Amino acid sequence: MAVEREQVVGHVAFSPVTINGDPGPLGLAPLAVRSGRRRRGIAAALVREGLELCQAAGTGLVVVLGDPRYYARFGFELARRYALRDEYEGGDAFQVIELVRGAAPAEGGLVQYAPEFATLSV
Ligand SMILES: CC(C)(COP(=O)(O)OP(=O)(O)OC[C@H]1O[C@@H](n2cnc3c(N)ncnc32)[C@H](O)[C@@H]1OP(=O)(O)O)[C@@H](O)C(=O)NCCC(=O)NCCS
Repeated sequence: MAVEREQVVGHVAFSPVTINGDPGPLGLAPLAVRSGRRRRGIAAALVREGLELCQAAGTGLVVVLGDPRYYARFGFELARRYALRDEYEGGDAFQVIELVRGAAPAEGGLVQYAPEFATLSV
């Protein structure tokens, strides 16, 4: 969470996802910064610190659904490079970062978020 003068101005969350039904990886979502506080690097700081905490906790793989032009700067790559796909058919928006080399299963597969995500509307 990003806080300025006791006000929350941004947040990021990571939640468990499965690959081919196996737990372990995390999904980055949602990421948001209050509209008047954008383009100051707050989201970037949240993502970088969040990934460091994931790595420190032993997480090998993090996935995200978002714009590759934004997430590439953190080291996210197109998930299809790892033969991984998501249940929402995100295409190029579906990306992955290996925090531990080789954490992605060699055979690739289907990544699924918690069922709660399917109930969200934007
Ligand atoms: C996306 C969001 C979190 C970025 O927050 P931020 O604190 O402004 O981000 P940063 O300051 O780290 O980075 C800003 C840069 O990212 C770029 N950027 C922001 N959103 C982008 C997007 N969706 N696609 C591509 N680039 C994006 C900006 O153009 C800016 O580029 P610049 O540094 O070259 O000027 C914020 O715009 C937001 O809350 N948007 C609404 C929620 C949302 O779309 N979340 C992402 C879900 S995947």
